[in-house]
Amino acid sequence: MELNKFHIVAFAVLIFYIPVGHSWGIDGHLIICRLAQPRLSKAAADAVSQLLPADAENDLGSLCSWADRVKFRFHWSSPLHYLNTPDNLCTYQYNRDCKDEDGRKDRCVAGAINNYTTQLLSYGDSSPRYNLTEALLFLSHFMGDIHQPLHVGFTSDKGANTIDVHWYKRKAVLHHVWDSSIIETAEERFYDAQVNELIDALQKNITTVWSDQAKAWETCDKTSCPDVYASEGIKAACDWAYKGVHEDSVLGDDYFLSRRPVVNLRLAQGGVRLAATLNRIFG
Ligand SMILES: *[C@@H]1O[C@H](CO)[C@@H](O)[C@H](O)[C@H]1NC(C)=O
Ligand SMILES: *[C@@H]1O[C@H](CO)[C@@H](O)[C@H](O)[C@H]1NC(C)=O
Ligand SMILES: *[C@@H]1O[C@H](CO)[C@@H](O)[C@H](O)[C@H]1NC(C)=O
Repeated sequence: MELNKFHIVAFAVLIFYIPVGHSWGIDGHLIICRLAQPRLSKAAADAVSQLLPADAENDLGSLCSWADRVKFRFHWSSPLHYLNTPDNLCTYQYNRDCKDEDGRKDRCVAGAINNYTTQLLSYGDSSPRYNLTEALLFLSHFMGDIHQPLHVGFTSDKGANTIDVHWYKRKAVLHHVWDSSIIETAEERFYDAQVNELIDALQKNITTVWSDQAKAWETCDKTSCPDVYASEGIKAACDWAYKGVHEDSVLGDDYFLSRRPVVNLRLAQGGVRLAATLNRIFG
């Protein structure tokens, strides 16, 4: 077969648009940023509003997936969306696991959260070394990613990106089920297909059933605590995401209904912790 222009274009479309799913879907990130923004202190809210580009109209949620959109342009940033741990060990250690596929240290989602936290601490300096708008958008996105259980997954299946399953009747990879399908199915079934209704329900639970826990989620002895979040993540991946799933599993109501509370919890934790982190940075 001779390659013609059509094949080349088709191939380019394939490589760029196959959802390799290295991130919560758009809704997952939107939810986390929308939960976080109303929880900001005056100082943090002012800094965020200064750093957001004007066309975001002070809505952090509208740019919470920016880091996914620039993944190809900023190719160096793609390993920063996740981290992989040794297969079936179900533990995480920064020194062992925070590296990219070439073994370069710190190049993982936990290292990136530390990196952009440190950069943002220079907010207010007369000549900042880094683009702090980008730092804010990266940090807000990666705080979301680290709370998606399969962004802290096993090495050989690339965070369940190579595990093919059926989500009800449709083919999907397990990673994508956790990025998007559980959230989308919940929205359709329980929230009138409105992401805002899911955000309101989470917001309400943060101030009621989760109010005591939420104080503990905020606590952290450093400016940001990605190692804690990553350890919880691999545990949730083992206990809930991978559990009982094999190649070609059909995942339906049993899986959906038992995993939905885990997704809700991780979204809520992500939102509360993003706000707490920004409050510490700009506080
Ligand atoms: C830290 O941020 C800079 C600026 O965006 C980037 O070049 C570098 O790769 C980042 N490193 C990590 C580990 O996040
Ligand atoms: C900072 O980054 C944003 C997003 O990439 C870009 O639009 C803006 O021009 C950059 N600002 C500076 C001062 O380089
Ligand atoms: C909120 O909490 C109630 C009571 O525990 C639970 O039934 C509901 O599913 C929760 N909703 C969300 C979105 O977490």
